[in-house]
Amino acid sequence: MKSIGVLTSGGDAPGMNAAIRAVVRTAVYHKITVYGIERGYDGLLHGDLAEMGVSSVSDIIQRGGTILRTARCEAFKTPKGMKRALEMLDYFDIEGLIVIGGDGSFRGAQELAQRGIKVVGVPGTIDNDLPYTVATIGFDTAVNTVLSAISHIRDTSSSHDRSTVIEVMGRASGEIARAAGLAGGAEFILTPEEPSDINAICRKIIQGKNRGKLHSIVIRAEGSEIPLDELVQQIKDRTEFDTKAVVLGYVQRGGSPTAQDRLLASRMGYHAVELLKNGKYNRACGTTGADIFDIDLAEALEKTRQVDPQSRVIADVLSI
Ligand code: ADP
Ligand code: F6P
Repeated sequence: MKSIGVLTSGGDAPGMNAAIRAVVRTAVYHKITVYGIERGYDGLLHGDLAEMGVSSVSDIIQRGGTILRTARCEAFKTPKGMKRALEMLDYFDIEGLIVIGGDGSFRGAQELAQRGIKVVGVPGTIDNDLPYTVATIGFDTAVNTVLSAISHIRDTSSSHDRSTVIEVMGRASGEIARAAGLAGGAEFILTPEEPSDINAICRKIIQGKNRGKLHSIVIRAEGSEIPLDELVQQIKDRTEFDTKAVVLGYVQRGGSPTAQDRLLASRMGYHAVELLKNGKYNRACGTTGADIFDIDLAEALEKTRQVDPQSRVIADVLSI
């Protein structure tokens, strides 16, 4: 393989830069020309790309965001957009494409694969919603950002005898909420994958209050069943705790990646180029938590995640 392209797509995630760096450095090491494609599929179909050298990725391993920038591109999903993307890859003689992104970006990559493009997916999203892999790049950093916010909110919440509902990101996934809720000692965790019972939530807060708890923290994943306003109002009305809502929002997507995310990104970026170099393509890189592996892209997209019932039990037991 003489030349490859790399792009970041969908929501940005801390560690994407470390992955770009790994891709570029590994490609250059193997004397493969590497093109950085700007703004994901949008840049691809507009031909916004440039060759990247070793020093183009200097000093980025520690930076959040993505130097290639990112986008959500509806045009790419249309036959006209897809045709344009294929023409661009052909025009620039790009033989293999590394897509760093989430579920949607992988579906886009799969569309390209079905049209003969050699692709490799590197999972980059804070949502951790690609079930074939234990972790996606950016998830660990986002969870740590939420943990830091929980600590800050806990200080003021306990000083004021308040209950606080903290809304976290994740789209249709409750992974950030489950991890940060358990690690942050939340009283209750609401996720899209599990039914939420407002009676159970309020009962628990009241029981805690009766035992002398001065505050409570409820983590709500943004895709959860009970709307945020309703949740806050119900807790306020039924527990008589002054109850506040904090929507953490985009703060979760930024910041310097954790060691774990930098390691994951470096290892996966390296692995992705090695795959293309060795003639393996239409693969997705993943981690077991210890090792890096690759799996057929279509197969990866079919996997579903069962929420470990034990995680709910542990969270409930530890937050009595
Ligand atoms: P993420 O990759 O983080 O899940 P999105 O779901 O927004 O983010 O997807 C990123 C981009 O991938 C979309 O803007 C679109 O260009 C492309 N994409 C998403 N789904 C598909 C699909 N089914 N077919 C082709 N391209 C898709
Ligand atoms: O996929 C990452 C994510 O941050 C989700 O958690 C969130 O629902 C979404 O992106 C927000 O997207 P946008 O940047 O388009 O507002």
